[in-house]
Amino acid sequence: MMATGSADTDQARPVLVTGGAGFIGANFVLDWFGAEPSPVVTLDKLTYAGNLNNLVGLQGNPRHTFVRGDICDADLVRALIARVKPRAILNFAAESHVDRSIHGPEDFITTNIAGTFRLLEAAREYWLDLPAPEREHFRFLHVSTDEVYGSLTPTCAPFSETNRYMPNSPYSASKAASDHLVRAWHHTYGLPTLITNCSNNYGPYQFPEKLIPLVIDRALNGQPLPIYGDGQQVRDWLYVGDHCSAIRRVLAAGAVGETYNIGGNNEKANLEVVKTICAILDGLRPRADGRPYAEQITFVKDRPGHDRRYAIDADKIRRDLNWTPSETFETGIAKTVDWYLNNSDWIANVTSGAYRDWVQKQYA
Ligand code: NAD
Ligand code: TYD
Repeated sequence: MMATGSADTDQARPVLVTGGAGFIGANFVLDWFGAEPSPVVTLDKLTYAGNLNNLVGLQGNPRHTFVRGDICDADLVRALIARVKPRAILNFAAESHVDRSIHGPEDFITTNIAGTFRLLEAAREYWLDLPAPEREHFRFLHVSTDEVYGSLTPTCAPFSETNRYMPNSPYSASKAASDHLVRAWHHTYGLPTLITNCSNNYGPYQFPEKLIPLVIDRALNGQPLPIYGDGQQVRDWLYVGDHCSAIRRVLAAGAVGETYNIGGNNEKANLEVVKTICAILDGLRPRADGRPYAEQITFVKDRPGHDRRYAIDADKIRRDLNWTPSETFETGIAKTVDWYLNNSDWIANVTSGAYRDWVQKQYA
């Protein structure tokens, strides 16, 4: 049967995913094809954090196109959007690592702030010229972080969408700035935007500079497991597949101009997370000497300005969009450790010379 309704026609049009070769973007694109009919065009600069191996499962898929490019390149972005004619743009592209932002904030300002600005401008120009029904259905979804809200004390209520923005790191400040731009482009120009602020993700394809994959990789290599400060900093961990399903839900049903917090209700102190990983590895891949991996835990100098606690109140997305996560921390972390054990080639591939330089700089 021919698709006649505008909703059906709409689903045949592609979505444009920026940063789709990174950790969350790649998981999102891979998951998308199991859940949605629309084709995907992935735009990624392939920085150290972007890896085409993450998308190898899509090779030969006629519904997926990869374009290498920078969201800061206004001409490229404008031409790509005009050619692709997306029904939505989902912006995952960012510099995402707090420690790197402390060593060198400039790339964070460039990509996260100027890049989002360029993308918004290109989206606005395109959206203004769309015919009425397509214009109405178009969405610009900006993927952001709970770190924009700053740090909680142990007894504070979790972050809700109305919390004040109080970013503390160059990374979170740049993400906060990008959120403000997205908000302003909706308020001033009417661009149909959506913002998601999510807690810490973990799962397959996460670059081993972030706590969970770093600990798995170093444990298996017999290296010290660095815990910053006292290890009692708390994060609200969400399995990446749950983040992806939440973003699809917000894209499909979120109210234009709104922000949705996404979280897993899994507050854990870093030390507890690391000990859990060690215990799983003890069971699945015991050390040759039979000693526990936890013996490799080492307390190191704290991160400057280290946020003590993040926690998300995900009531709005549950109530308004009927979304809840499917994984608990226990099921998600078991899957994750298993994935890294079964994908040692992936780790070997991404831990290149550039990675080794970073580890030397950060942990020497
Ligand atoms: P990541 O660092 O793994 O991936 C970022 C991707 O963006 C990479 O593929 C990189 O090549 C690409 N990129 C960087 N600069 C670019 C540019 N100028 N133009 C085009 N592509 C560029 O990050 P991630 O962990 O997958 O995070 C994705 C998004 O989700 C980010 O916006 C981040 O702020 C947000 N977020 C992450 C977490 C988390 O726990 N990782 C939690 C909440 C929100
Ligand atoms: P990270 O994965 O970098 O995410 P974020 O800083 O965005 O929360 O770090 C998670 C937590 O783990 C954070 O409190 C910092 C801490 N951490 C360590 O203790 N040691 C490490 O080597 C790393 C990378 C992080």
